[in-house]
Amino acid sequence: MSSPVTEPIPRFYDLHPDPGDLVAEILCGLRQTPKRIAPKFFYDRRGSELFEEITRQPEYYLTRTERWLFEQHGEEMALGLGRDAVVVELGSGNASKIRLLLEHLRPSAYLSADISREFLLESGRALEAAFPWLEVHLACLDYTRPWDLPAALAGHDLVAFYPGSTIGNFEPEAAARFLDNLRSVLGGGMRLLIGVDLRKDRAVLEAAYNDVQGVTAAFNRNILEVVNRVADGDFDPSRFRHVASYSEHEGRVEMHLEATAPHRATVAGHSIEIQRGERIHTENSYKYTVNGFHALASEAGYRPERVWSDPSNLFSVHLLRAVRDEPGEP
Ligand code: AVI
Repeated sequence: MSSPVTEPIPRFYDLHPDPGDLVAEILCGLRQTPKRIAPKFFYDRRGSELFEEITRQPEYYLTRTERWLFEQHGEEMALGLGRDAVVVELGSGNASKIRLLLEHLRPSAYLSADISREFLLESGRALEAAFPWLEVHLACLDYTRPWDLPAALAGHDLVAFYPGSTIGNFEPEAAARFLDNLRSVLGGGMRLLIGVDLRKDRAVLEAAYNDVQGVTAAFNRNILEVVNRVADGDFDPSRFRHVASYSEHEGRVEMHLEATAPHRATVAGHSIEIQRGERIHTENSYKYTVNGFHALASEAGYRPERVWSDPSNLFSVHLLRAVRDEPGEP
């Protein structure tokens, strides 16, 4: 994964994700009450590395359990999804999970879509090396905004892959909109294999987001380093405490950064005052029941076909089939 990218890669589509006005977005969040910074700002190079490290923490059961589900049920998942399809993975990062399914799925092609050009090229090359029979396509795009399938893949039988419970980082209404949009991009009849974290004991959830090694705390604080770089800020991350707790009422783990002393930061030339004990909200991670997620998927135009979960009901993987082409059609 660390080999430098030297040559152009064939089948690379740069859809030039528009970063938008990141500085304006940061300032707008910091002027709200409570203050917020959008979780997309976690994922610079360091943040992505820290997230990878989180997935290896013993308390963070999500990745380990989802991988176990792919290992145990990959064959059945592939039967439900169908072979020879074009598999489209969204936010593929290092594409480690699809590797567990590729031999079962034997897709006609694999499209990895991610906003990070660097990550995409590195993981695309590594995948081609590990699976020489696989036709790898790479698309640099922001899949949370409207996007089009590269023309070379249009008209094929399509399967979408969205592991990791990343869907949980959307507000539920935004999650439904995202699924709806995915269905319009890939078309009626497409199948979706999606990982969804389940509701469970508060203690298990809170431990997962407060690992003893402090990796999640470092990941959370790193967002201030990103803000400092992107918006010419001078936050001192060491003056903030990582706070992660489960709200039973909302069904979500909330992450905040709490100021341990009064703090004045300058961001893009604007002064931001923070009181001692004041929190900046950085992330929600929604947890679903199987029925709750099915309701959301149905609302977005999918029919739930299968669900796999582990014996302790920590995590679920759902096979959904798109049932309408256009929103609002029966
Ligand atoms: C990427 N996402 C599914 C992770 C989650 O669990 O919500 C991000 C994360 N935040 C803290 N730990 C991991």
